[in-house]
Amino acid sequence: MLKLASQTPPGWAERAVASLDEILLDHAHCEKKAAGFAVTLIFQYPGHPELMAPLSALAREELAHFEEVLRQLSIRGLSFGRQQPSPYPGRLREIVAKQEPGRLLDMLLCSAVIEARSCERLGLLAEALPDPALAAFYSGLRAAEARHHGIYVDLACQIAGRDKTRARLEEFTQHEARVLDRAPTHPRLHNA
Ligand SMILES: [Fe+2]
Ligand SMILES: [Fe+2]
Repeated sequence: MLKLASQTPPGWAERAVASLDEILLDHAHCEKKAAGFAVTLIFQYPGHPELMAPLSALAREELAHFEEVLRQLSIRGLSFGRQQPSPYPGRLREIVAKQEPGRLLDMLLCSAVIEARSCERLGLLAEALPDPALAAFYSGLRAAEARHHGIYVDLACQIAGRDKTRARLEEFTQHEARVLDRAPTHPRLHNA
């Protein structure tokens, strides 16, 4: 089950394909951040042993994705480097509880929503890309990000129970839709 409160507007994928170099660089940063976030949770929550192995495996997978995107950059003669970041993850975290109880659940659900939106958009890219090899690459990643969404939701259910998780996930998806509505339009995976 992929939980999002809005659909990416028509035209996003075409604009992304038209700015593919920038999208690929942003995508590399997104994979790196996804790995870093999973590792951050491992460091911040050693008292939750049930999180350790799933998040460690997830972080390794995100780093593998990072390396694959680096390879795609290199194929195109592009190099990894700094890029003006999208405000999306920071704005998404504005509703994360500052303290426990609640903060861990929110951190997990924040990632769950990012994974769901990544999954949706990587799928749109896969459908819009004229290069079949790159389209197949994005199609494979889409499936992985859908699985990551499920992992974060499952972990949230273990921490907070199914009902509380479902209710808070609904708040996060509504918030995420509003964040995307107000996002800038320069080419990023998580911009308007
Ligand atoms: Fe990934
Ligand atoms: Fe992911």
